[in-house]
Amino acid sequence: MFFPASIRSFATVATTRNPRILVTGSLGQLGTGLVSLLRNKYGAQNVIASDVRKPSTDIKKAGPYVFADVLNFQQLETIVVDQEIDWIINLSALLSAVGEQHMERALAINMSGFANTLELAKKHNLRIMCPSTIGAFGPTTPREMTPDLTTMRPTTIYGITKIHVELMGEYYNKRFGVDFRCLRYPGIISADTEPGGGTTDYAVQIFHSALKEKKYNCYLGPETTLPMMYLPDCLEGTVSFLSAPTESLTQRTYNVAAFSFSPQEIAAKIKERIPEFEITYAPDSRQKIADSWPKSLDDKMARKDWGWTNKYDLDGMVDDMLTKLNKE
Ligand SMILES: NC(=O)c1ccc[n+]([C@@H]2O[C@H](COP(=O)([O-])OP(=O)(O)OC[C@H]3O[C@@H](n4cnc5c(N)ncnc54)[C@H](O)[C@@H]3O)[C@@H](O)[C@H]2O)c1
Repeated sequence: MFFPASIRSFATVATTRNPRILVTGSLGQLGTGLVSLLRNKYGAQNVIASDVRKPSTDIKKAGPYVFADVLNFQQLETIVVDQEIDWIINLSALLSAVGEQHMERALAINMSGFANTLELAKKHNLRIMCPSTIGAFGPTTPREMTPDLTTMRPTTIYGITKIHVELMGEYYNKRFGVDFRCLRYPGIISADTEPGGGTTDYAVQIFHSALKEKKYNCYLGPETTLPMMYLPDCLEGTVSFLSAPTESLTQRTYNVAAFSFSPQEIAAKIKERIPEFEITYAPDSRQKIADSWPKSLDDKMARKDWGWTNKYDLDGMVDDMLTKLNKE
């Protein structure tokens, strides 16, 4: 049943219980940590993790997990209705490098899958969050301190699908009052989970190689500067954005940034802590993708509107990564 926007916002205000949240694509680099943070805040039983893969025993023990393919509208709708879902967080995607190898799957998952979740958000009055990326920018975008609103002509299928997410989400927000929220993440660096096939994956691999082999052969050239963020900041920021009052949001898609570095700069930071470490360079097809992305992002609107802030700077991230991976 369709409710006018006035009744829909009343229904949201009248709800006082913790939100019940469905996370799709929850077994990826970001999902595991996000589910755990949301469960700490809203209660384990209120956060339903889902993916198209078999979860580990630990994941199954931690709270509810269901199989959910974002391409299957009926399956998603059954979960939304049966589990009384209020918010849907759509993390399922094929990332930049993998997307170039599997274009049709990337189009399907990143666009049709998102369209399914957005339509469900409209039909069942859900808050919906779907991340975008620095990959939504392109070679004609200003590359230093790239603002929220600027030229966006991405040259990867990943970027094209993410522009689609941003525009469709904003359209549904304006036309139907859907509470769509979107963050443009930079490359995310994580200690506990593996990256899923993006262009910035080197920034995680380099730590593992530095500790195990004391050397790393980088698929990007030494001076390829990209915006990056440490996973704990990305997750805290996402939870804070999700719970921000609607009135505080002056836009629906925000840049979020922490720090930028190049392979030679991160290598120097690692070498300060592991003197034997050596880096070599063998740029591959991912170089072209990285060259089309911003070097740094302007995220002042996120900081102003809903208080986005990063705790980790570059040195803090490097220290924490090495400490955590050393323990492993
Ligand atoms: N990791 C980053 O550096 C980064 C940067 C910018 C934006 N993002 C965005 O954040 C989100 C999460 O990224 P991630 O790094 O965790 O990705 P990931 O590749 O690690 O995980 C994606 C998950 O989606 C699942 N999936 C694939 N097909 C599916 C389907 N049909 N139905 C349901 N699930 C499916 C996969 O099994 C996987 O667990 C994505 O939207 C991505 O574009 C990530």
